[in-house]
Amino acid sequence: MSVLPSPDQKPIYVNRMFSAIAARYDFMNRLMTFGLDQGWRRFAVAQVTSQHWLGERRALDVATGTGDFLPILHGAMPDALVIGTDFCLPMMQAGESKVDAVDGRGAYVGGDAMCLPFPDNSFDAITTGFGMRNVADLMGALREMHRVTKPGGRMVCLEVARPRNPLVRWGHQLYFNRIVPLIGTLVGGNGEAYTYLPQSAERFPPPEHLCDLLKAAGWRRVRYQLLGMGAVAVHVAEK
Ligand SMILES: C[S@@+](CC[C@H](N)C(=O)[O-])C[C@H]1O[C@@H](n2cnc3c(N)ncnc32)[C@H](O)[C@@H]1O
Repeated sequence: MSVLPSPDQKPIYVNRMFSAIAARYDFMNRLMTFGLDQGWRRFAVAQVTSQHWLGERRALDVATGTGDFLPILHGAMPDALVIGTDFCLPMMQAGESKVDAVDGRGAYVGGDAMCLPFPDNSFDAITTGFGMRNVADLMGALREMHRVTKPGGRMVCLEVARPRNPLVRWGHQLYFNRIVPLIGTLVGGNGEAYTYLPQSAERFPPPEHLCDLLKAAGWRRVRYQLLGMGAVAVHVAEK
């Protein structure tokens, strides 16, 4: 049975869902991905940051949730200002310690990915992980990230994908569609949220299509790489 909301209901549905699972979100991520998710985030950050940057630099993590990207961004560019933005306050509250860990160089800012609360050309690097699947207007969010990126800046989007190898795909589907909702019910205490996860992933554009959407949103030099035996796609683009 589908738990997916209609597009007009999606923002409120998604906001309520993440508010409900915020406290156990990090624990569930580590459990479901066998601890691989932080490595994927580190890989993503490495695609958009440079140790050789000079002057005042800014990075933005869109749909930051509990802010897992923030300490990684800070580690990669210690002098940069690192901002995480999300429209779900309980998620950012659950991740308070991560913004504290960035030595006064970071902040959470409440905001909607489809209407980011920042001026044009503000950021050198943008990251977004497992967020784009959840926005009601994907093109709007891709355009917004482009708008707030400085010319020459880079964006990386980490999102779930479906493995291509038929055998791996079969195993992944079994795990994602059957076992993850069960773990979500038994451990996460919210079966619906972890049923929404595979169902929303199924609706998300495949990697090649996402490349086309990124180009249509104004991004150039768009490319992607698959990680986790194809279970995750990392798209990188430049403005
Ligand atoms: C699966 S979590 C990802 C969190 C984090 N980026 C990570 O890597 O774990 C998705 C996040 O997207 C946020 N989100 C969904 N739609 C949003 C929107 N329109 N504007 C801002 N945040 C949004 C949710 O509140 C949630 O925190």
